[in-house]
Amino acid sequence: MEDIQLKNDETATSLNRVDGRLKVTGAAKYSAEYKFPGLTYAVLVPATITSGTITGMDTKAAERAPGVLAVITHLNAQPVPGYQPDPSKPQRKGLKLFFDNQVFFNGQPIALVVADSFERATFAASLIKATYQQQPFETNFNKNINKGVTPNGGKYTDYVRGETDAYKNAPIKVEQEYTLPTEVHNPMELHVTTATWDAPDKVTVYTKTQGVKNSQKAIAEAFKLDINNVQINSRFVGGAFGSALRTWPHEIATVQAAKMVNRPVRLMFTREQQFTLVGYRPHTIQKIGLGATPDGKLVGMTHESHSQTAVYEEFTEGSVNVSRFLYASPNANTRYKVVPLNAGVPAPMRGPGEATGSFALESALDELSYALNIDPIELRLRNYADTDMERNLPWSSKYLKECYQLGAQHIGWDKRPSKPASLRDGEWLVGYGIGCGAFGAYRSRALAKAKLMPDGSLNIQSAASDIGPGTGTAMVIIASDILGIPADKITFDLGDSSYPQAPTQGGSATVSTVGSAVHDVCIALKQKLNTLAGKPEDDTAPVAYDNILKQHNLPYVEVTKESQGADENKKYSMYSFSSHFAQVLVHPVTGVVKVKKIVAVVDAGKIVSMKTARSQMIGGAVGGIGMALTEEMIFDHRYGRYVNNNFADYHVPVNADIPQMEAIFIDKPDPYVNPLGTKGIGEISLIGVAAAVANAVYNATGKRVRDLPITPDKLI
Ligand code: MOS
Repeated sequence: MEDIQLKNDETATSLNRVDGRLKVTGAAKYSAEYKFPGLTYAVLVPATITSGTITGMDTKAAERAPGVLAVITHLNAQPVPGYQPDPSKPQRKGLKLFFDNQVFFNGQPIALVVADSFERATFAASLIKATYQQQPFETNFNKNINKGVTPNGGKYTDYVRGETDAYKNAPIKVEQEYTLPTEVHNPMELHVTTATWDAPDKVTVYTKTQGVKNSQKAIAEAFKLDINNVQINSRFVGGAFGSALRTWPHEIATVQAAKMVNRPVRLMFTREQQFTLVGYRPHTIQKIGLGATPDGKLVGMTHESHSQTAVYEEFTEGSVNVSRFLYASPNANTRYKVVPLNAGVPAPMRGPGEATGSFALESALDELSYALNIDPIELRLRNYADTDMERNLPWSSKYLKECYQLGAQHIGWDKRPSKPASLRDGEWLVGYGIGCGAFGAYRSRALAKAKLMPDGSLNIQSAASDIGPGTGTAMVIIASDILGIPADKITFDLGDSSYPQAPTQGGSATVSTVGSAVHDVCIALKQKLNTLAGKPEDDTAPVAYDNILKQHNLPYVEVTKESQGADENKKYSMYSFSSHFAQVLVHPVTGVVKVKKIVAVVDAGKIVSMKTARSQMIGGAVGGIGMALTEEMIFDHRYGRYVNNNFADYHVPVNADIPQMEAIFIDKPDPYVNPLGTKGIGEISLIGVAAAVANAVYNATGKRVRDLPITPDKLI
C-alpha cells in the first residue's frame, strides 16, 4: 500500500466559492426571479384518476375567472410540431402534455391555466372539471414483480462471467432480498420555467436545468425551430440531483403557452408537484446471492434487480452493474428487470443505480462477513479486484485499499465489536459499519472560450451548469493554476446556451469534461501569448500578459478550444472509488437511530477544489443518511395516489440528524482519464453510505434491516 499524504477538511486550503457571496446575499438570480413586462403565470391542473381517458372538460368557469388569459387542454392546445407523429421515425416516447386524452398516472397535468397573477391562475385552475373513463391501474410494485421485463440495450441485458448462480454451490453463502422504496429528489429550488417569444420563430427560456444545450436542443426539436433561435438561460440552479437532467413536458408546455397567449409565461411548481412530476429514484427489490470458501474467497455472486418504471416510458439504471466488477469473484452474474406502473417516470437521482445496487451488495457482503466470522474490511481485502474482471482491463487508477485503511483509522474501527449488540454507551447500543462504491469516471466532449483583457483579467465561457457543486470555482482554480493569473482576476461564465458546447451536468463528469476544455483552452492561450512574445510556444516561464497585449496593441486575445472525451477508456477501466464508514447509536427501547459519525474516504483522482469537494462529500452523505433512515414515498393503492408528497410526511434529514462528518481524499491524480488527473465526486459521495449505516445498525443491534428506510419500528 502506498503511503498516502492525508488531505482532509482540516488541512484544506482552497478558494472560497467564486459565487458564494452572490448566493448568500440573494444577489444570485434563479430562474423564477427574472422579471419581464407583461409576465403571466401558469398553473397546472392535475388528473384525479390514475389511468384512463378524459371524456370531457368543463373549462368555462375558469375561462371567465378574473385575469385569465387562457385555459389550455388537449382540446384547444396549439399543436407542438415535434409532438406530431413522424411516420419515418420511431414514435417519440414519453409524456406529451395536452396532446391527447390519455391519463397514465394520478396528478398528470391535464390542463394549464394562464392568468395575470399566480393567485388568479391558481383560483381558476380550481374551477376546471374533468370527466373520465377510468381504466384499471397498477401502483403496487410488490404485486407486479412478475410483470418485470428485461430492457433492450447493451448494459441492461443479463450478464454472466463464468458459471451462472455459482454461489449456490459454495460452502458458505448468503442469499437475501433488499428493498429500496421510491425516493424523491428534493432540491431547495423548485422546478420553474419562464418562456418568452421574441419573434414568431425565436424564443428565450429561463429554466431550471442541468444542461442548457440539452434544453436548447429539446425545445428547438419540439417547436421545429432553428437551434440558434432558442436561447436557454440557467445561470444559478438551487440543486437538482438528477431531476433536471432532461427537458420535462411541463417545460415544453410553458413554451407552448407563451406562444398561445403571446406573453411571457412562468410556470413554477408547488412542492407537491416536485414530488410527482420530475422523477424519482425507483422502488427496487434486489436479490443478492454470495458464495464463499471458509477462508472468505468469493466463488460466486448473483445480483438480480427489479425496479419500477412508468407505463408510458421505460427508465433504466445500472443498479446491478457494480456487482460485475467491484470484487474479484471468478463467477458473477446479474439480471435486471423493470416493472411498469401508473406513476410518473423515474429519473436518475444522485448516484443513480449504483447507490441502489451498492446498498444491496454491501449489505450482503456484511452478512457474509458475519457468516464467515471475518472482519468486513478483511473480507473486502481478500476479494480485492486488482483488475476489472467485467471488462478484462486494468484500472486507470484505484486506491480503494488506502480508502479502507484511512477510513478505519478515522472512524475508530478498532472499537467495533465483532459480536453484534455487545457495545454500549450508556443506554445506547453502539455499532460500526462500512459500505463501498464505485462510479464511472466519465469524460465527454466540451468547448471553452477564453478571453484575456489588457488589464490582465481573464474570462472563460462554456455552456456548462452548476447545480451546486461549485463548477465555476473549480474552473477558476484550473485556469489560475495553468496561467498563473490570480483567481480574483478570472471569471467563468456558464448556464447560457449561447456559450460554447458543454454537456449536461450529470454523472460526476463536469470537472473531467469542462475542466479539460478549460485546461486545454488555457494551454492554447498561453501558447498564443508565448508566440506573440516571440518565445517558443511551449515556454513554461511566466508570461507578462498585460504587457504583451499593450505591445501588440490588441484589445484582447481570444481562444476557443475543443476537448474530446477520453479515448483511454478502451484501454483502461475508469472509476472513482469510495469507502464510507458510519458509527451509529441505537436506542434499544425506542429503536431510534442516531448517526454519530460518518467518515467518507474517496479515491476520485486529483482534487481540484478542496472546499467544494468536501461540500459534495458531505451533501452526498446526508442523502445517504436519508436513504438509510427516513426517505420513502408511500402510495395509497386504492386511488393510486401518493399520500406523503410533502415535507411534513416525507422525511429528509435535517441539521439535528446530521453528525460530525469527515471527508478524506486520497488525492492522487489518475494518469488516464483527463489531463487534470480527476475522476469525479458527485455520485460517489452517496454510493455506499446507506449500506454503511445499515451495517452499523446491525453491528449495534444484531438486527438486519433489509428494507429501507430503517425506521424505529423495524428495530423494536
Ligand atoms: Mo446526476 S443523478 O448525474 O444529476
